[in-house]
Amino acid sequence: MKMKLRPRRLRLNENIRVMIRETILDVKDFVYPIFVVPGSNVREEIPSMPDCYHLSVDNAVELAKKIADLGIPAVEIFGLPEYKDEIGSSAWDMNSPVQRAINAIKSAVPELIIVGDVCLCQYTSHGHCGCLVDHYVDNDRTLELLSKVAVSQAEAGADIIAPSDMMDGRIAAIRAALDDKNFINVSIMSYAVKYASGFYGPFRDAADSAPQFGDRKQYQMDPANIREAMKEVALDLDEGADIIMVKPAMAYLDVVSKVRAEIDRPVAVYNVSGEYAMIKAAAANGWIDERRIVMETLTCMKRAGADIIITYHAPDAARWLNG
Ligand code: PBG
Repeated sequence: MKMKLRPRRLRLNENIRVMIRETILDVKDFVYPIFVVPGSNVREEIPSMPDCYHLSVDNAVELAKKIADLGIPAVEIFGLPEYKDEIGSSAWDMNSPVQRAINAIKSAVPELIIVGDVCLCQYTSHGHCGCLVDHYVDNDRTLELLSKVAVSQAEAGADIIAPSDMMDGRIAAIRAALDDKNFINVSIMSYAVKYASGFYGPFRDAADSAPQFGDRKQYQMDPANIREAMKEVALDLDEGADIIMVKPAMAYLDVVSKVRAEIDRPVAVYNVSGEYAMIKAAAANGWIDERRIVMETLTCMKRAGADIIITYHAPDAARWLNG
């Protein structure tokens, strides 16, 4: 049988496959999320996120050192505060675990890039991402509060501010507030395209941030929409976002691919808690090969166009890549 092209020729063995491989996953692609809590010497596994821990600041610093040693360039800090109130004021308290962790990690491992998640849901008594007026999250009042959070994290030593609240106009507000305090070199990674997703379930247990009433559909996006995603991206680019994020990852790679094709700034993807939990649960049952599935998943995120991958799998993937 004569055939001009036989694609199988280039799949004959690992070396030939390596030579034509289009996407190479790298440890430098990763950002690792860390959850900090009050107290000292705390290290408690998060039940729905095996191998992820609630850590007090001292233990978060130890973990950050290990992350840097693995060659992972960045961590993202989430926190559980000591107190919650109507407006989420512990979110900009310099004595809160997040600000203390940012500060301590920056001193211990200065080269590690620190991303601060800016939102209010972990800090408000009602669990919504902004301040409420008559059970409605008031957009413009929330902007002032988010700006305070961003500035407090920059003061603590964050390199990148990552607003995850989905209020309108927050990138412009945060950029202005940072510049006003002379944090001109602190970048903004916008959760520009954040869907109202069931995949955040385990995170909300981990961060104790589930809304006490209603849901987040008045501010996070409808999973059915992609034109709207492009509108959010355009607004955030215009407002000064340095990096654009799409979240969640696995079921949204068409969005990642479209955003990558249409913009000239780096694209990040957030491989969220529910995606992680599904893989860990199936692997614990022996139903899938964890290493294989994780590497395949992360490689496909990069293939879709992600320049940066925020993932709870980062330490394992780094170990496997470092071989
Ligand atoms: C805060 C925030 C959430 C996540 C990141 N920042 C939860 C939410 O919006 O409900 C989700 C992260 C994950 O699921 O891993 N707004």
